[in-house]
Parts: sequence; structure tokens; C-alpha cells
Amino acid sequence: MYYSDDIVEEVRMKNDIVDVISGYVKLQKKGSSYFGLCPFHNEKSPSFSVSRQKQMYYCFGCGAGGNVFTFVMEYENYSFVEALKFLADRAGVELPEAEYSKEEKERRDLKQILLDMNKLAAKYYYAQLISENGKAAHEYLTKRGLDEGTIRQFGLGYSNKYSNDLYQYLKIKGYNDEQILKAGLINADEKHGAYDKFWNRVMFPIMDTNNRVIGFGGRVMGDAKPKYLNSPETMIFDKSRNLYGLHRARTSRKSYFLICEGYMDVISMHQAGFTNAVATLGTALTAGHASLIKRYVNEVYLTYDSDEAGTKAALRAVPILKEAGISAKVIRMEPYKDPDEFIKNLGAEAFEERIAKARNGFMFGLEMLERDYDMQSPEGKTAFFREAAKRLGEFEEEIERNNYIEAVAKTYRIGYEELKKLVQRTAVQSGLASMAVRPKAITGKPKEKEDGYKKSQKVLLTWMLEGQNIFAQIKRYITPEDFSTELYKKVAALLYEQYQQGEVNPAKIMNQFTDEEEHREVASLFHTRLKEIKTKEEQEKALKETLLRVKSHSIEKSAQELEPTDLAGLQKLMNAKRELLSLKTLHISID
Ligand code: UTP
Ligand code: MN
Repeated sequence: MYYSDDIVEEVRMKNDIVDVISGYVKLQKKGSSYFGLCPFHNEKSPSFSVSRQKQMYYCFGCGAGGNVFTFVMEYENYSFVEALKFLADRAGVELPEAEYSKEEKERRDLKQILLDMNKLAAKYYYAQLISENGKAAHEYLTKRGLDEGTIRQFGLGYSNKYSNDLYQYLKIKGYNDEQILKAGLINADEKHGAYDKFWNRVMFPIMDTNNRVIGFGGRVMGDAKPKYLNSPETMIFDKSRNLYGLHRARTSRKSYFLICEGYMDVISMHQAGFTNAVATLGTALTAGHASLIKRYVNEVYLTYDSDEAGTKAALRAVPILKEAGISAKVIRMEPYKDPDEFIKNLGAEAFEERIAKARNGFMFGLEMLERDYDMQSPEGKTAFFREAAKRLGEFEEEIERNNYIEAVAKTYRIGYEELKKLVQRTAVQSGLASMAVRPKAITGKPKEKEDGYKKSQKVLLTWMLEGQNIFAQIKRYITPEDFSTELYKKVAALLYEQYQQGEVNPAKIMNQFTDEEEHREVASLFHTRLKEIKTKEEQEKALKETLLRVKSHSIEKSAQELEPTDLAGLQKLMNAKRELLSLKTLHISID
């Protein structure tokens, strides 16, 4: 924490959320809240609400939400500290010099140095590109169809022919070997000393979501290998947490992203007006990317290369995205190699058509599967349906599973009931047992189980944040210590503290979480939808079950950690168990 709690709270209080958001979104008062069109997703009727009383906002359409800091972070693309500075300035609050510990300061300083250096390098490469030295490189980009505006927007550049060009430049600018090495801009070995990582290449700076240069990709201008070189991972460059083009795609205001494979694909697509295109940084798509994407959209279109590798990569990406709650569609680029060539040859309109015709990821997987079977022979076809049934059985949710069974039955012209039976039989055979009645918590893998507990803790915490009445009823049964997830423990502790002081203020709790990742997760606690369950009785029942689950998990955990000689601990544990029993008959009212 770089600024004191008091100053952060002062800045928050002096920036009324309705006033601040009104500067961005046209709001209308309805009842006790204000409504407007959500700035974080495309919509025609207002589902974005702001509460003056709670000093929080929430979108019923896309689930965005948080306090005034969250809003500015999301809208302006700021880090917490940047948002704080912005709002302090707006309200005329003077921020004191930030306080850092020595280690914090060193780390921060180094990080800042690496960011400065990368920015400087990007400027240098750009200057080279538009200078006489970069003529061939500039021609290369022009020949590939990029116009000046695009080159500038993406900050493309050229690394000179000499192997120590940038190195010398950075030395003159006052950076030392160790720093330049840590920025990933040079290599060093005993034989050659220090030399530039990139030379005689067209340079693609890689930006993070805050528009800061964090690394580079560099392409040869001919057919030499390797075609691309990329910056190594550094303190500021994590390939699994960044996407090429995201800094621009995030503000494209489309409800989906186009994910492609290459830098040039992204640039071509943006130039053609598809400003929601992103690409991984020369690696396969990972769960890290998926959760990054999930912050902005719930849907993606995979526009991978048409070759075997691209197809495989798309097939591998679908389940990873699904796991993160993102639905994936697949766009084919045939007869062209990739989106870049497609757009160059057929143009943006034809690309739009392909988007409209995109195939559902699962169905696409089956189409690809067909190629492995002889669909003309009865044996081949049967074997294909067995494999398809196995995949269908992996949908855990019954409605979703049945919808897919229906779609497959229709596409492949077989009976729905027959296919459904085959799915059930296959599931039994492959040891999954009868799917419908399988309680997840019991048969789940340990990791799934942990995730399940985490989810229960999250839901319970959301209930506790919902209303004073609910909190009052359950506070004696549950303590912050019962939350095994550190982040939730911290939120719970703050909540208890506020209750004790008689002032419950969720917007203030959010101040404490300045790390962007954490801030978002805490924001989500305040607006996870609990009311999806319809009746009040059912809601009360669900809440009680959640409470029991969290409590018994906590007891189980402390039992495991208990030393056999710890008599006091044992006594405490027995009390807790007794309490758990009495909890089972407790009635919680959510009115
Ligand atoms: P591609 O080979 O499809 O290149 O690699 P491309 O993006 O279409 O580039 P052009 O059109 O030939 O110029 C896709 C991505 O894989 C990574 C890069 O991120 C590239 O954009 N890659 C590829 C590498 O990191 N190294 C390589 O040698 C090749
Ligand atoms: Mn290409």
C-alpha cells in the first residue's frame, strides 16, 4: 500500500460516484438508483446502475461493477494508483509523497527503469524506421499493405543493421549493462560481450493494457530463420498475461474478441476496422490468457491459420476458454493462409461474412473429428458417434448437454433419443457413472474440490455483504478465519471490523485492494448474483447450505492441522463441531 488508508478514503469520499460517472455516461434517476447505457459493453437499453447511497455501480448486463476507483480504472485503463491520482486531482486533494519500503522502492524503481527503457527503445526503433536507415523496412511494411496511420498506431519500427546499435544508444542514455540485460534488449556472452537482441528486423512493440511497452517481436524481412524473435520474459513481460493488440481491443466496445495467431494478423484486422482483434505472443493460448480475456468479453472468435497447426491450436483453445466461462466460435480462413492474407485478398466485407458464419467450437471439433473416420462405412460411422457421445458426456450441465445432443442429432441426422442413450451408456462405460446424480463435491478431483470450497466462500461472503440483517444472523457462527482463501479472509476481516464500528461501507472496503487483479476479484464479490434462485425459501436454504459447507470445511482443515498434543485446540475443535450440529437446525431469514 503506497498511500495511507485515510487519504485513499478521503479521495473516494470527495468523488461522488454519480457525479464522476455522469461525466462519462448519461444517467437517469429511477427510484433510488441511476441508470444508463453500460460503457463496458454494447447495449441498447440501460442495464448499468449507479447507487449514490452505496457509492457503487453495477451492470446487470455484463456484470461490471465496483466503486469509483474501479470505474476509473476500467474506463481510463488506469492502475489503482493512476486512478487515485486522477480522482485526487479532480477533487483538489493533494496527495502526499508515496511511502515505500526499501525493497518495494528498489523493485518499483527497477520496474520503472525497464518500462522507461522499453519505451525509449520503441521510440528509437520508430525513428530508425522513418529515417534513411529504415527505408527497406518501411518499404517492406508498405508492400505488406500497412498505411502510415497503422504503422504509427502500432508503433512499428526497425532495428538497425549493426549488432550493437541499440546497446550503444541505451548506454549513452545512461543505462548500465545489467539493466539493459534485465530489459531483455541485449544478449551477452563471453565471446561476444553484449550485443543487441534484435538487429535488421522490423519491430513490433508489445503493449500492456495500460499502453506501456513491455517487450518486442522482431521479424526478418526475408525468408531467413527464425522468422520472428521475441523479447524474453522479464520483470515486466509475462507472455501468459498479455495479448498483442489488447490495449486497443479492450476499448473497441464489441461484445467479443477476434483471436488470431500472429502480429501481422492483428494489425491487418485493425486496419480493416476489426479493432477487437488480439493475438497470443508466439505461445499457445493458456488459462492465464482466458482469464485476462474474461475481464472484457464472454465470447471469442478464433481466427487461426488454416493449416493443420492452426486447426489444432484452435481445437486446444476451445476447452481452455470454456473453462473460463468464455464461449468460442471458430472462423475458417480458407482458401487463404491467415486473416492477414484473407483480408488483403477478399476485404473486410468478406471477413464480416465469415464472422457471421462462424461455427460453434464444439461442432467444429466434431467436424474435424469426422476426418479421422470413414463416414461411408457403418463401422466408421459408429465409431465416430461413440467418440462424439463421449465428448457430449463431458458437458456437466444437463441442459447444456441436451442442447448439444440435439444439435449433433440434427446435424448428423440421427435420432435425439438414440444419441442421448448412447451418451449415457458411454458415460457409464467410461467410468463416469450416472452423470445426472453425480454430486460434484464427492467425486471431483482435489483441485475441483478446492475450487468448490473457494466458490462457497465467495458466495457466503457475498451474502454477508448483502445486508446487515443477514450478517447479524450468521456472524456468531463464522469468523474471518473460516475463510481459507487469503483474499476472502481479508475482506471478511474488514467487514467484521466495519460492523463492529457500526459503519458498513462496501465502497470503503474496496479501497484496500490496490492490486488490479485483487481489486477486480473483490469487486466481483459485491455483485455476484445471488437472486438467480427464485423463491425466498430456496434462497434461504441455499444460504444455509453454503454456510454449513464453509464451516465444515474450515473445521476439517483445522482438524487436519491440529497437533495431537494440543489439548486446548482439541477442545476448541469439539466445540466447533457441536456448534456445527446446532447450525443445522438454524433458520436464516433473508428479509
Ligand atoms: P506465423 O508464422 O503465422 O507468422 O506466426 P505471421 O504472424 O503470419 O507473420 P507473417 O505474416 O509471416 O509476417 C504466428 C505468430 O507466431 C509467433 C509470432 O508471434 C507470430 O506472429 N512466431 C512465429 C514466433 O514467435 N517465432 C517464429 O519464428 C514464428
Ligand atoms: Mn501471416
